[in-house]
Amino acid sequence: MKTAALPPAPSSHGLPDTTTLLQTMMSAYHQDENAAVKGLLSQLQGYDATAKAAVRERARGFIQNVRDNRRTFGGVDKFLNEFGLTTREGIALMCLAEALLRIPDSATADMLIRDKIGSAAWDQHLGKADDLFVNASTWALMLTGKVIADVDAAEVKDSSIGGYAGKLVSKLGEPVVRQAMLHAMKIMGQQFVMGRTITEAIDRARDSEKIGYRYSYDMLGEGARTAEDAERYFKNYQDAIDAIGKAAAGRGVHNAPGISVKLSALHPRYEYGNQARCIPPLVEKLRVLALKCAQYNIGLTVDAEEAHRLEISLKIIEAVFADPALGQWEGFGLAIQAYQKRCGQLIDWLARLCHDHNRRMMVRLVKGAYWDSEVKYAQVNGLPDYPVFTRKASTDVSFLVNAQKMLAHRDVFYPMFATHNAYTVAAIVEMAGADQTGFEFQRLHGMGEALYHQLTGTVAGTYPCRVYAPVGSHQDLLPYLVRRLLENGANTNFVNRLQNDKVPIDEMLVDPVDYVAALADKKHPKIPLPRDIYGDRPNSWGIEFAHTPVSQVLLAKVEAAANRLYTASPLIAGKAVTGSTSSKITDPADRRRSIGDVTMATANDMRQALDITAAAFESWNATPAHQRSDILDKTADLMEEHMAELLALCVREAGKTLPDAVAEVREAVDFCRYYAAEGRKHFATRTTLPGPTGESNVLQLEGRGVFLCISPWNFPLAIFLGQVTAALMAGNTVIAKPAEQTPLIAMRAVELLIAAGLPADAIAFLPADGELTGKILVPDARIAGVCFTGSTQVAQLINRTLAARDGAIVPLIAETGGQNAMIVDSSALPEQVVDDVITSAFRSAGQRCSALRVLYLAESIADKTIEML
Ligand code: FAD
Ligand code: 2OP
Repeated sequence: MKTAALPPAPSSHGLPDTTTLLQTMMSAYHQDENAAVKGLLSQLQGYDATAKAAVRERARGFIQNVRDNRRTFGGVDKFLNEFGLTTREGIALMCLAEALLRIPDSATADMLIRDKIGSAAWDQHLGKADDLFVNASTWALMLTGKVIADVDAAEVKDSSIGGYAGKLVSKLGEPVVRQAMLHAMKIMGQQFVMGRTITEAIDRARDSEKIGYRYSYDMLGEGARTAEDAERYFKNYQDAIDAIGKAAAGRGVHNAPGISVKLSALHPRYEYGNQARCIPPLVEKLRVLALKCAQYNIGLTVDAEEAHRLEISLKIIEAVFADPALGQWEGFGLAIQAYQKRCGQLIDWLARLCHDHNRRMMVRLVKGAYWDSEVKYAQVNGLPDYPVFTRKASTDVSFLVNAQKMLAHRDVFYPMFATHNAYTVAAIVEMAGADQTGFEFQRLHGMGEALYHQLTGTVAGTYPCRVYAPVGSHQDLLPYLVRRLLENGANTNFVNRLQNDKVPIDEMLVDPVDYVAALADKKHPKIPLPRDIYGDRPNSWGIEFAHTPVSQVLLAKVEAAANRLYTASPLIAGKAVTGSTSSKITDPADRRRSIGDVTMATANDMRQALDITAAAFESWNATPAHQRSDILDKTADLMEEHMAELLALCVREAGKTLPDAVAEVREAVDFCRYYAAEGRKHFATRTTLPGPTGESNVLQLEGRGVFLCISPWNFPLAIFLGQVTAALMAGNTVIAKPAEQTPLIAMRAVELLIAAGLPADAIAFLPADGELTGKILVPDARIAGVCFTGSTQVAQLINRTLAARDGAIVPLIAETGGQNAMIVDSSALPEQVVDDVITSAFRSAGQRCSALRVLYLAESIADKTIEML
């Protein structure tokens, strides 16, 4: 194959030590995207107009060839293109494929099919693809949809003859439809799976191996949630290595098939926060697998998973790679993701690691399979930026730049370029320069066949291509399948465009380097930074604990704050009331540890608080709404500044874990900003409401008077401040009573409100006994409203007390009960149920086990899920 020789990129010699390189890599985690992309562009060497022209022509040939020969190769790529995620039908199919095979009972299966297939417009897809598999599937889906639609229409006219016929079709039709759909879904699944067992997969690979393909078997299974699952996956890997090792018959790490391993399959708590617990057993397990592979002299590649696992995965990989027991084996490998901003720095670190241990490594460069979830994760967690690029073309550029870097490190790396993108392949061939050896391409089973058919072979001028081949059952396929559907359904995806004849070849030949270089702003204009996703208010800052340089600094501050002693006492007109006896507050995790003391409010304090806040109402209510909003916004900013201290208080006083504490502070910050934004909308201008006879009434929304806010211990900051800030924003003054267990953090919140500019007499803070509050404050005519979160019993007491008062009805806003019901049917993925239960029931709602009720509709899922919990 003719190539233009490119000068080599700088060699790995002279790299700083691994500690320095690791620091550099870590600092790029959430790097500014413009800086990251400009950095990449500046590194490319020799990729000039001549090289680009050669790449373009080679890629054109590849693409034309794929389009000309599409009938020869399987229909998965085309199927994914036709039913991508941009179509309603594609989404329906994905939901169905994801869930149907799990459902044990036919009634639920029928309902799911009805729900997903019945309402979609399948006929619009008929004949769009020139592929038998796609069209046959479309016909089947269309007919199924039609049967369901007819049955539904007939059932509406139940008493008619039509109704009778409908029931008949329903009876005869549903089992047939169900079987057909199950079969279709199984076929779809099988397109992505090489075999149910490793023996089946190895047998199936034999013919392809003869024409130059190599294999890396992926034993399906990831994200273990129980120790039992992790052990099962570990055993699967060991058994697979034995089978692959025997089949390898001494062909050596490059020519023989190998194995791909996901660390998340090997430990149920493979998380940064659980490093001390999970790293030692994971090192041990990976060492066992690596030694086994070394014994057979086959390759082992550690897959790359979510960005927050990178740092911890490197600790495990480094420990195993450094083991002298691996001897002369050169088959240890890992996957690295070009979509991550840290990719280039990671390569430097790996190269130095190889030099230090005098051992070669197999490095698989991929673009990355978790892009959508990385973006969502950063937004949900309020991170400073994304760990990944936001433009597809930047990922392509990163792939090319880092491929060039890897090729220059062929002394220590065996580069493996995993892509289905013809342009990327053509560029790599170009970048390899005069020496077209010492690397391979890789593709996923069921994908990219038509492209690699043109490249792969065993003779000079061809390239080895390894197929990543999933092995296992449909139960373990789902996360993998969903990633493939998400990836290939995107309309920026190369395979998707390749299959779409409406995309002219020239459009697919736009060089990503030229494209990105020409952009003034390298960030995607439609993907705002996580801080800016709401538009009308900033998202609250979160923290990525898995980003060591950031979390180390924060945790040191939290620790210092956690050793301080705090005081809570009534705060009336900004003055702390002291004098009466105080009591100690201790850490619920260790009652021997004192964290401060509290002075409880007396009946007199309560009366004084009423006098002051009632007198302050008029002036606060007359304060322009935008000023009230500004104060809330400022409070949010101050809370973010005092994050470490507030986290320490959440942990020490309320017994929260650190991630829960972060969620707590962020929710409080969000409440402040949300009410500030709502206040600007509704209180700053007059609101027009239609009257009973259609006339317009112009209203100015106003406060009611003094609001009594009573909050619980389980959200000592978020619910406390949520109640208080909503009342304040509306123009009310507030008497705030925290839970007896958590006055310290509430006092800090009130201090921050006042520091932000809240007039000190607009709020009175009363750490107080509930009974006394009910006796003195609730019945007082000056209390114009009560906001309460807690038990139903106390809410009823308050309700009755308020009802017994003379005069106008007093609003009571009560959030009570505290039990979340979760209905889980058999279509749910048990792992997802466990995650949802933990995040929504335990964390968000603050419930504990006793308050958890999960209602199962199917026995089979129930056992597994309960075990995981
Ligand atoms: P292209 O269409 O050229 O690129 C698609 C990729 O671009 C997407 O996957 C995404 O990463 C990226 N992208 C899409 N939109 C954007 C955007 N707006 N901004 C930035 N980037 C964007 N993935 C892993 O994560 N870990 C692994 O261990 C892993 N192992 C693999 C092994 C093999 C052998 C192969 C072939 C793939 C592996 N992958 C792995 C999956 C791989 O990441 C995807 O298949 C690959 O990203 C598809 O790239 P492409 O060049 O074929 O397609
Ligand atoms: C994935 O599991 C192929 O490792 C990649 O999505």
